[in-house]
Amino acid sequence: MRNNIVFIGFMGSGKTSIGRLVAHRLGFQFIDTDAVVVERAGMQVAEIFARHGEPWFREQETAVLRSLGNLNRAVFSTGGGIVLRPENRELLRELGLVVWLTASEEVIFERVSRNKKRPLLQTDDPRATVHELLEQRRPLYEGAAQFTLDSSTLAHDDAANVVIAEARRAFSWQTVT
Ligand code: S3P
Repeated sequence: MRNNIVFIGFMGSGKTSIGRLVAHRLGFQFIDTDAVVVERAGMQVAEIFARHGEPWFREQETAVLRSLGNLNRAVFSTGGGIVLRPENRELLRELGLVVWLTASEEVIFERVSRNKKRPLLQTDDPRATVHELLEQRRPLYEGAAQFTLDSSTLAHDDAANVVIAEARRAFSWQTVT
């Protein structure tokens, strides 16, 4: 397995914050797949959804995963919907250790309510949307992940430590560089 750590999970599960911290601690490169899609498209996620629609965004996510396939010593944070495509779930596994960050529905809703950047949650009833999407995606995250961590009650620091300990075990690292 390549020495990469790949964070998956619902919006607001802490993938970017915890991923950044893990990368920093390990001296690994940090890559946010949403940020790569945004950079390549030259527009923000909300604008991509508005102009091109969700299927086009999903195609870009797959293209990003494919283009990152040769990296090593990297930590990836991925968009919450990356697990929707079966081919992505395979690509994620090929990339490295797949860590599913979970959080309770209440915590997720509280976190995602703080900003309005997420196009899928601009509905009449965002609370119900979070519930539906979580129900739909939970089995997909579960199927794609090799390790699961609930971030609801953990400080980012502690969550990062748990993931690093798991990576150490999964990669049989003698020392973490
Ligand atoms: C999405 C999650 C977002 C972003 C896009 C779609 C989703 O990423 O990719 O808004 O389908 O759950 P975050 O999980 O980083 O918010």
